Amino acid sequence: MKLAKVFEHNKNWVASRLAQDENYFNELAQGQSPEILYIGCSDSRVTAEELLGAQPGEVFVHRNIANMVCTIDMNTTAVLDYAVEHLKVKHIVVCGHYNCGGIKSAMIPKDLGLLNPWLRNIRDVYRLHSEELNAIENEGMRYNRLAELNVQEQCVNVVKNPFVQRAMENGLQVHGWIFDLFTGKLIDLEINFDKVLKDIRQIYNITE
Ligand code: CO
Repeated sequence: MKLAKVFEHNKNWVASRLAQDENYFNELAQGQSPEILYIGCSDSRVTAEELLGAQPGEVFVHRNIANMVCTIDMNTTAVLDYAVEHLKVKHIVVCGHYNCGGIKSAMIPKDLGLLNPWLRNIRDVYRLHSEELNAIENEGMRYNRLAELNVQEQCVNVVKNPFVQRAMENGLQVHGWIFDLFTGKLIDLEINFDKVLKDIRQIYNITE
């Protein structure tokens, strides 16, 4: 990707959109009503729109290192609040991916400076599931399993929000997915939230 080509690409993109529909940008500028909030990794290989086949206006996107949902991260919390309370999305997707650098770094105990507090949240997920993870001999498979378990725990973090809990009573759904970089396939982890949330509901359910 050469930077000098960006504006040329943009010019071509505008022309191709207008060739298909001369009102395309007038309509796009009217507003957004996406049905999906996508929370994914910042990794350049895991682009939200391309892997979902989504067009502008269809998905509200938030990305950070290792698709984390941290309660005291105002960025993620504001995105969640805006998506649920104002855009009234019907689905929240947390999408992780195999071969995730953030996940791998978190599994190696090493001082990484400013990244430490961020990776700490992933290391907490590792601690929660250390028994299962330490039993996996293959290093790559261990990282990929943590990527899956991390998606599950970040979905749980999404559900900890009271506005998400209220919206779930009205049909909002939370999904945990994994993008398999080795095959290009998107995998639904089919997280059983009734089972996952069973023991923690009494602690985090704050809308009663
Ligand atoms: Co990643």
